Amino acid sequence: MIIRVFRWRPEAPAARFDEFPVEAGEGTTVLDALVGIRETRAPDLAFRYACRVGMCGSCAMVVDGRERWTCRTRLRPLARQGATVTIRPLYHFPLVRDLVVDLQPFVERMKAAGAAFVPGGEPPEATLPERPAIDAAIECIGCGACVSACTMVRWDPRFPGPAALNRAFTLLADGRDAGATGRWTTVFGEDGVFRCHGQAQCTAVCPMELSPADSILRLRRKATRSLFLRT
Ligand code: SF4
Ligand code: FES
Repeated sequence: MIIRVFRWRPEAPAARFDEFPVEAGEGTTVLDALVGIRETRAPDLAFRYACRVGMCGSCAMVVDGRERWTCRTRLRPLARQGATVTIRPLYHFPLVRDLVVDLQPFVERMKAAGAAFVPGGEPPEATLPERPAIDAAIECIGCGACVSACTMVRWDPRFPGPAALNRAFTLLADGRDAGATGRWTTVFGEDGVFRCHGQAQCTAVCPMELSPADSILRLRRKATRSLFLRT
């Protein structure tokens, strides 16, 4: 099969795709193929990975049009759908080089949504009804795949994005957290949860099988309830 790899560097800014023929075994992953290409044919090819077992999220890229962890994506099933597999960096992030993006905007969006726990509130009740949803949502490891898949991130740079809103949901439902006031301004402001169009692409691509779309829905319900309580 042929792998098409996105190439770009700041000193020669015209982007291109390089093609590499690859022999893929039954268990060969996209990341295995990239490592092989770098070792044998393109020593200057830049991409990011760390754990290689689906734990760190650093190998997220767009493979055949969809955000995936390349260390958990096998090549053969993709190639069955077409002889060529195309790999490009995540969308909506500044490019550093080739398949590497700058994740700083992700960190900024998290900060804007008040992603840090603020100690000082009351301990939560054991029967907190949101608890099962929170348990799932806290498993986010910040890979950025959902941000890449979100069209609203593209159009509104002040929109916190699915990962940050998912994080805000976990904290706003946490009785021990005392940071709700600051978080409320970003999350429920003009560029917050109500800007989400509900396409749920974030949920469709999340390799942890989380649902940021559900977290956003719950935040909306919370905002709506608070409006009624005020009137
Ligand atoms: S919600 Fe899922 S896709 Fe988004 S950053 Fe967290 S783990 Fe990655
Ligand atoms: S390298 Fe860690 S998740 Fe892929």
